[in-house]
Order: sequence, then structure tokens, then C-alpha cells
Amino acid sequence: MTRRVLVATEKPFAKKAVDGISEIVKQAGYELKLLESYKDRSDLLAAVADVDALIVRSDVVDAAVLDAGKQLKIVVRAGAGFDNVDLKAATAHNAVVMNTPGQNANAVAELVFGLMLALARRNYTGKDGTELRGKRLGLHAYGAVGRWVATIAKGFGMELCAFDPYIPREKIAGDGLTPVAAVDELFASCDYLSLHIPKTKETTKSIDFALMSKMKKGAALINTARAEVIDEPSLLRMFAERPDFSYAADIAPECAKEIAEKYAGRYFFTAKKMGAQTAEANVNAGLAAARQIVGFFEKGDTAFKVN
Ligand code: 3PG
Repeated sequence: MTRRVLVATEKPFAKKAVDGISEIVKQAGYELKLLESYKDRSDLLAAVADVDALIVRSDVVDAAVLDAGKQLKIVVRAGAGFDNVDLKAATAHNAVVMNTPGQNANAVAELVFGLMLALARRNYTGKDGTELRGKRLGLHAYGAVGRWVATIAKGFGMELCAFDPYIPREKIAGDGLTPVAAVDELFASCDYLSLHIPKTKETTKSIDFALMSKMKKGAALINTARAEVIDEPSLLRMFAERPDFSYAADIAPECAKEIAEKYAGRYFFTAKKMGAQTAEANVNAGLAAARQIVGFFEKGDTAFKVN
């Protein structure tokens, strides 16, 4: 029987990426099904019913999707964070879950600078701004995105430090950054703090008032990771108690409206989650996902398995 691959994306890939995925899938002799910009989960549940493989972005793949996908053998999250996929349910359904680490990292890293510049240049309103050169940038996690941020920051002439308990200090130091031993030390010592932690049980709401209140006077927090890592009551408290604090994100918090009403000029939120929304990132992550599926079926390759 011909294998079927479903690409299900509430936020569609660029056309070039879809064409590339289609070519890889067809060359392997498989069929491609496309479900883009769907508004209702029932569309996803129906579409997944007769497919062997699923490619998603931030689309939620929970037990209901896995139940509906009776033939599903592999789910690939075209991107880094796989917090949208229920790994336990996938394992219980004998489905392999993979991500495509690093493939969209540069796009996210470039947006970090778009956000920092928006704050530094006072949202481009014409008011006096500041420069990034010479400022200290702290990276909370030093994975693929963090490394690209560091590469670009060197061009801006920023001083760099990073906290990541999972990466050897020698690796961080070898890349020219100062390794920081504790997260509160990172928050206390930087002008800009950029979050690159995944959303896990441990990191959810981990950016709380105790941590944020350690930030230097005038420091800014940049979040291109996940909205959920921020404790929102703490964020509101920071805005209220620290008039020098500013915050920019491509994943606006639920309290965005309140921030916008009360704290004009101290925040910047993009219209939607768009860190990885570039043609290049879509092509890199989408094609990698398609290749990983073919590699899995044809050669049993599970190199990027996360469950
Ligand atoms: C990721 O985890 O790879 C990024 O957050 C991108 O997510 P997206 O595919 O929904 O844009």
C-alpha cells in the first residue's frame, strides 16, 4: 500500500517549502495530503485518519489526534520545540516523534535582534534611542537558537554571556561567551536577556518575579521561546514596580492588552508567533521533516527521535 504523508499546518509553510516537501514525498513513491490554515480541529482529526506520517508546526498533536490516526507511525514537528506533541500518547500509540533541531534557528535568532532594536529605538517612534554595541546580552540556554544569536551579536559588538546547565562551560567559553554559573547571576548582570529555553514542566512559569526583579536597571527581556515560560502575574508586577523594565516577544502574553493599555513604549509584541516564519526556515525545517520521514520508513533512521 502506498504510504501517505499529511502536512497539517494551521500556520502554513511558504509555497517553496510545500513544493519541496511534495517532491521528496513523491520521489519516495508516497502520497502527499495537505491541510493548511485549518480552523477546526475536526478537520485535522478527519485528515489524519488514513495517513502513515504527519508533519506539523505548532499544531497540537494530542491523544485525540493519535487516536484518530490509526495508521500513524511517525509525527515530525518541523521545528525545534515539541511541547505541542503529547509524547506519552505517541509512545502508547507506537508512533515515533521527531523534531528538526536547528533548521529554523537562524530565523528566530534574527528576530531577537528585530525585537531588541524595537525596544532600543523606542518602537521607531522617532524618540531618542540607545545602541546595542557594548551592551551585555545574556542567553538563557545555549542551544541552536542561542548559538545563532551569539554569532549575530558579535557583529553588533555586544558582550555575551550564557547560562545553560546542559552545555559544558568550556564549549560556551570556547565560543567567546562568558559562561554564567547560575540563572539569577545571568539575570542580574545583563542589559538584554534573551530566553531560549524549551517549554517543559520545569521551565513553565520559571521566569517569575524573584528572577526578573534581579534584572539590572533599564534591562530588557526578550522572549522568542514560549509564552508559558513567563509567569504572567510576575510580568505585570515587573511592569508596575520597575518603570525601567521593558519586554519584547513574538508570542504575546495573555495580559498583552493590559500591558498595552498601561505601559506604552515599554513593550513590543509581534502580531503573531513569527520567529520561524521565513521562507528559508520553512524550507529548511519542512524539507528536513520530509527527509526524516523517508529515512525512517526506508532505512529505519530514528536519529531525531524525541520519544
Ligand atoms: C519552534 O519551536 O521551532 C518555533 O517556535 C517555531 O514554531 P512555528 O513552526 O509554529 O513557527
